[in-house]
Amino acid sequence: MKIAIIGAGNMGGSIAQGLSIGKLIPTSGITVSDLDNNKLEFLKSKYPELKTTNDNEKAVADADIIILAVKPWLVKPVLKELDLKRKQILVSIAAGITFEQLAHAVIEPEMPMFRVIPNTAISELESLNAIATRHVTEEQESLLLSIFNEMGTSIILPEEKLGAATALASCGIAYVLKYIQAAMQAGVEMGVRPDDAMKMVAQSVKGAAELILRNDTHPSVEIDKVTTPGGITIKGINELEHAGFASAVIRAMKVSNQ
Ligand SMILES: NC(=O)c1ccc[n+]([C@@H]2O[C@H](COP(=O)([O-])OP(=O)(O)OC[C@H]3O[C@@H](n4cnc5c(N)ncnc54)[C@H](OP(=O)(O)O)[C@@H]3O)[C@@H](O)[C@H]2O)c1
Repeated sequence: MKIAIIGAGNMGGSIAQGLSIGKLIPTSGITVSDLDNNKLEFLKSKYPELKTTNDNEKAVADADIIILAVKPWLVKPVLKELDLKRKQILVSIAAGITFEQLAHAVIEPEMPMFRVIPNTAISELESLNAIATRHVTEEQESLLLSIFNEMGTSIILPEEKLGAATALASCGIAYVLKYIQAAMQAGVEMGVRPDDAMKMVAQSVKGAAELILRNDTHPSVEIDKVTTPGGITIKGINELEHAGFASAVIRAMKVSNQ
């Protein structure tokens, strides 16, 4: 199994690293193509078996799977230069570029295609990968799930839900970080050192996520466990409500759904 990654930026570079750490694809079977040699050299220094090139055509020539990780406006020009075959699988991670647009840009519009929306936690193998499919077999779908499950958790969705998934999981990671940043500011004002405050807040966010993911409970159930009647947590929660916390989160998510 050979994989070509076009674009070694934040996402393409992280996917290259995730795949190299993973066990499914031999590192020697991964080729990364980018115009920027610094990015390629960085990857090569960490994973010497990885193949790198500046030539996209060369990268995809004998690849079974092509992961397209360039900016959305470069998808069409990059695809137009490639002679992708029907037996190959195209995986686009470009936000907002539809299957219809991808099909118009390739020589074989009926070729198997996936759209994957990961988030930046892919570098820690903790991404949420929202995946939509077009003209793929069950085997191809389970192959792609196995590949992306090595880098986090994956969910198959209809294409029209990818915008919402982008808002919730890709933009959403920035909103969670914004909460961490704000809570750290509070900690510093209360006299806690910034690095200690960061550990306290980040670990509590991680712990909250683990509570609901591992036990399959609802956030309300877990909140109920810490809100003693008349206690300090319910006071804080009600302050958040008065300040419009839930409303602000809902508005942020909705405005990011495009
Ligand atoms: N960042 C996120 O959270 C996120 C989440 C989900 C999806 N995405 C999608 O992921 C894609 C990549 O985003 P990113 O943040 O990784 O962007 P990025 O850091 O700019 O990476 C893109 C890379 O592609 C290179 N490139 C440009 N033209 C190329 C060409 N013709 N052939 C080969 N490589 C070329 C760029 O090099 P130069 O820098 O030299 O131009 C850059 O290294 C986007 O389409 C975005 O919508 C991003």
